[in-house]
Order: sequence, then structure tokens, then C-alpha cells
Amino acid sequence: MKEIINSLVVNRNLPEKDMKMLLTCDSSADAYLYEQAQKVRQQYYGNDIYIRGLIEMSNYCKNNCYYCGIRAGNQEVSRYRLSAEEILSCCGQGYQLGFRTFVLQGGEDMYYTDAIMVDIISAIRSKYPDCAITLSLGERSYETYKAYFDAGADRYLLRHETADFYHYSQLHPDTLSAENRQRCLYDLKRIGYQVGTGFMVGSPYQTPEHLVKDLNFIARLQPQMVGIGPFIPHHQTPFADFPQGSVALTLRLIAILRLMLPAVLLPATTALGTLDPQGREKGILAGANVIMPNLSPVSVRKKYQIYDHKICTGEEAAECRFCLQKRIESIGYQIVVDRGDAKQYTKNQM
Ligand code: 5AD
Ligand code: FES
Repeated sequence: MKEIINSLVVNRNLPEKDMKMLLTCDSSADAYLYEQAQKVRQQYYGNDIYIRGLIEMSNYCKNNCYYCGIRAGNQEVSRYRLSAEEILSCCGQGYQLGFRTFVLQGGEDMYYTDAIMVDIISAIRSKYPDCAITLSLGERSYETYKAYFDAGADRYLLRHETADFYHYSQLHPDTLSAENRQRCLYDLKRIGYQVGTGFMVGSPYQTPEHLVKDLNFIARLQPQMVGIGPFIPHHQTPFADFPQGSVALTLRLIAILRLMLPAVLLPATTALGTLDPQGREKGILAGANVIMPNLSPVSVRKKYQIYDHKICTGEEAAECRFCLQKRIESIGYQIVVDRGDAKQYTKNQM
């Protein structure tokens, strides 16, 4: 397995059969894989860990993804949406805590018209000119993405979920398609956003072949960010009885992504921290360099339950901020006060 890993380090990719082998082999080469990933991360980002303040602005959603707890069909969810003032107050708190990126995340909530969103984005942009504004609001038209970008948004997160079209249809109702999802991602790139994509590890029906396709899709898209986390069942969804994804496989994929896209921004996700109390630390030690603590008001945290047992739903923003600082320092890394843009990677440079 070491030769395959070395070849991944040099070539930034692998033939499909080798990639499949690396995804399915036993854990004996994991330490070596993480070591290589850490070395590459070190070259680009040193010991710095970037933080993003996550503001979960609405749990209304018009979609019905089979895996997601806030799907439209879940009648048990108590719905909320934050006002512009509440969002700005989260940013204010976050700024004081050293955040220089705000992520506005939400379900696909049509209450926020383009005009309302443009007002919110412009207000954050003018109040915090030194901060990055990241949006994670789902599928929109080219025109809408463009209007948000012109208002001052810099980055957009939209996971492709799975690059296999049939698998996509097993995870979503007919109203959603992999084709449109990928169209959105290419639109976002064309407009000039720094783009993040990603997928769940161990989602229902996922095979190693699907994961190879996901990695190939990511290699083609060349996103600045890739978010991956284990699938965690939510008891009020059609996927309630499917098994959760594997932490070990998620860590392996984080390391592989670091080697494929050396300068990519890779979060150690909350889902990883939910399945393993040391999950986020392990993610960093496998090559991740970003962490996304919650800045949402504590009063709404439990309502943004996309999967069961989500961590940090009772803690104040400041508590998470300092908890994470301790955790990150305990493994020899440091949180920096910085927008945390992706570094440039030029092929053949190394
Ligand atoms: N388990 C893990 N991740 C999930 N997501 C949605 N539902 C779940 C779940 N049950 C992920 C999806 C989505 C992101 C916001 O959260 O990949 O894009
Ligand atoms: Fe939220 Fe530790 S990060 S309590």
C-alpha cells in the first residue's frame, strides 16, 4: 500500500483500481497515509487552523432529501428563521471572538428573496470589510448567485453529495438532480466564487466505486474547499434505519483529498466530532485545516438538527470557540485570526 500512497503523493491522483484498493484496504497503512497528508498540509498552511463562524439562519427547507432531518416532510421540526438583525448580531459576536469568515447556512427557504439576501450580504460586507462571507443556501439560479456575489459574498458551499447520477436519485426525490447540482457548482465557479463541494461518507447505497467517482469529480471541479463527514441517521427521515458512516473511512478520505488537492481547505466537520469525541482532532491529524464552530443563537441550535445527536447544540459561541482552541492546541496546532483563503497550488511546482 505504501507504493500506492507514494504514487498518490507524486501524481496527485491514482488509477481507479489503485484508488479503490486504497479505499478498501485494512488500516495498516493509515498512519503512513496521514503522515504524508500532514506533510503536505504543513507545506501550505504550517500549524495554522482556520475557523469559520457558522450561522444557521433558517431551518425551513422546500426540499425533501431522504437523509436530512430538516427536510420539508418532517412535521416534527420546530421551524425558525433569523432576521437580518439577528444575523448581524451573530457576526458581531463572532468578530469579537476572532472569526474573520462568516458562513450563512440554511435550508432552501424562499422567504429570503434575492432582495432580502442582497441586503443582508451588503450589510455584512460594509460592516466587516476584512471578513469573508460564505454562503451555503443550496441550489439557486445563475442570476441569484451573481446578485449575491455582487453584493459581497466571496465563497459558496454546495456539496455535490454524490457524483453518481443513479446514487443521487437514491438519496433525493425526483425534484432534485445531480445534473442541476453540478450545474450550480460550475455556475458558482464561473461567477468567481471560491467554491466548496463535498459528500457524506457511508451514505445509504454508497459503494467504493461511488467514492472513486466522487474523487474524480472533485479533481475535475478543482474546488477551493471540500467538506466531508460521515452519514449519521436522523430518526425522523426515511433513512432512520441505515447504519452510520465510518469515522476511519472519513479520515482516510480527508488524507486522500489533501494529497489530491494540496492547497484545498478541508474542514474537520461537526459530523466527525459527533461520531467520535476526538473526531475533529483526528481530522486535523489526517490533513484537515479548517474548523467550523457554531455562531447561531443557542435558542435555535437544537432546531437545526440535520442528523441525530449533533454536538455543540447547548454551548454558547464563546464556549465552543475556547473549547476548540484547547483541543487544537493539545495536538500542536493553533487557531489563527484570519480570513483563511485557500493558498495557490500550481501543478508541477513540487
Ligand atoms: N448525516 C450527515 N450529514 C448530513 N448532511 C445532511 N444530512 C446529513 C446526515 N443525516 C450533510 C449533507 C449536506 C450538509 C449540509 O450536511 O451533505 O450537504
Ligand atoms: Fe462546542 Fe467543544 S466545540 S463545546
